[in-house]
Amino acid sequence: MDGSFQAWLDELRNRVSLEEVVSEYVPLKQKGRRYWGCCPFHNEKTPSFSVDTEAQMYYCFGCHKGGTVINFVMDMERMPFMDAVRLLAERAHMEVPVSGRGERRDGVSRDERDRMYDANRQAARYFHTLLWTDEGAEALNYLYGRGLNDKDIRRFGLGASPKGWDGLYRHLTEQGFEPELLEKVGLIVRRDGRAFDMFRGRAIFPIIDARGRVLGFGGRAMGDAQPKYLNTAETPIFNKRNGLYALNMAAKERSVGHLVLVEGYMDTVSLRKHGVQGVVATLGTALTQEQAKLMKRYAPEIWISYDGDPPGQKAALRALDILDAEGLPAKVIDYPAGMDPDDFVKANGLQGFENLTRYDSTTYRMLRARDGLNLDIQDDMTQYALKCCRILKNVKNPVELENHLRRLSNETGYDREILLRQIGVSAPAQAETPRRLRRPDAPQENSEDKAEQALIALLARGRIPTDMVALSDFADPTRAELARRLLAGEDYQGWLETLEDEQARTRALAALNYRPLPAEREEAARMAEDCLRTIRENRADSRAEEITQSIGAATHEQKIAMYQQIMALNEERID
Ligand code: CTP
Ligand code: MN
Repeated sequence: MDGSFQAWLDELRNRVSLEEVVSEYVPLKQKGRRYWGCCPFHNEKTPSFSVDTEAQMYYCFGCHKGGTVINFVMDMERMPFMDAVRLLAERAHMEVPVSGRGERRDGVSRDERDRMYDANRQAARYFHTLLWTDEGAEALNYLYGRGLNDKDIRRFGLGASPKGWDGLYRHLTEQGFEPELLEKVGLIVRRDGRAFDMFRGRAIFPIIDARGRVLGFGGRAMGDAQPKYLNTAETPIFNKRNGLYALNMAAKERSVGHLVLVEGYMDTVSLRKHGVQGVVATLGTALTQEQAKLMKRYAPEIWISYDGDPPGQKAALRALDILDAEGLPAKVIDYPAGMDPDDFVKANGLQGFENLTRYDSTTYRMLRARDGLNLDIQDDMTQYALKCCRILKNVKNPVELENHLRRLSNETGYDREILLRQIGVSAPAQAETPRRLRRPDAPQENSEDKAEQALIALLARGRIPTDMVALSDFADPTRAELARRLLAGEDYQGWLETLEDEQARTRALAALNYRPLPAEREEAARMAEDCLRTIRENRADSRAEEITQSIGAATHEQKIAMYQQIMALNEERID
């Protein structure tokens, strides 16, 4: 990030008031320098979420989320960094600098990108209108034949591409779009100085993003023409690995609480036509990590709803792996043999869809583990049990594991204990007296941690003279870096904002928000002294401990030297 963009971000953070932004989501009450409210990121009844008005940072003492106003918008709206920056810039009436991170490596200017979106929008409009002309009659009949009516067609903005070679090309150039731009956005191809439309004689599905921009198109052949679906090629504004069909609709349906992920455009249109909400589709490729990340911004759970055939089932297993890796919980719908969501909902309606079993990921994996096995044969049964044990290795939640174990034991006749040994859980998961629930990201603190935290907080508030503290006082590298920035008067908010390491971020935030701190300077200095003593004594203690550990194996002379060291260390403790 270059310096001028950093300065621009500083200005942005200064111009928007964090407490104002936060109070649009959370009711806040002021107490001293902080505002308090119930944390929007975890469930709670007593407020532990706070906004520090001086530092312009928020922090939740319960779940440890925190950061600047940019982090808040990222967390709240589940947006990537630059999107949050743009949103806030709009609010502050500031223009995002072109040379900043808004510009991508491909060197396509914001302006050109906008013209590409515009060309696509005009193309979509043209395709759509064409449906009700002679040129589009075949496509219109095709869509009717797939069970859609005019209302559905309008809702999805479906269209027809002209059958000739260059209908769209002529239409758009007449509107003033340059051929170069149309080629770049994948609407036309140019060969030997001639221009051809990319989509000819197809039914068209426009792909629209959450902000309503047309990214590209999918075109369905109406007869046996190949390929069956033609998609917009990779362009500066379209990449099928990180887009989702119908995200424009799903983005407005967050209250549904899940997304239904299907394989095809028609599945999406058809399920939605029958009243299923939250449906999105990948764009002709298997689910990617990027798409998983994207979905995570719109729903806390995914229902995988792939075709009920072996390829669909395999794809569902792969999708589960990808969603697992993203930490996005998923369920799987297993359609009756040979049916896809479109066939199913046409035959069984919304009610039928809602009645379908949604398997949790482990149960679905175990279900698939049966494929190709005949459980009446002991060998196959053994294989099935072994496969399931491998699956269960990854189940971390003991209660969940227990449920699956019981079921597997019933199914296979193997003892629960035997299965557990196979899974490799040595101390039986019957640690069913659940240990005290601890948030996985809760920092484990000892007195030294607390002392380092307090020092950081005192430095950040300017309560103690900077020369009181040395960088070597911090054992934790994150806190050391934070201290370095505070001591040098360097920007720390920008650094924290983009710190990728979650745990490091949490440590930095916990330190900055350490409390209570004394109001008086004198008292603050005394507190800092206490902290420094704790840190230095602890360090001397552990050094002495190390020496003591190795003393047994030392020679007589070495022992004498060691005792002297230990005594010296002990003296250090006495001020
Ligand atoms: N697909 C593709 N290219 C192909 C075939 C399929 O990009 N040659 C993608 C499309 O996004 C399509 C999805 O894969 O929507 C699912 O393919 P398929 O199951 O073959 O199509 P259906 O959705 O069943 O389409 P239809 O009902 O129109 O046959
Ligand atoms: Mn299909």
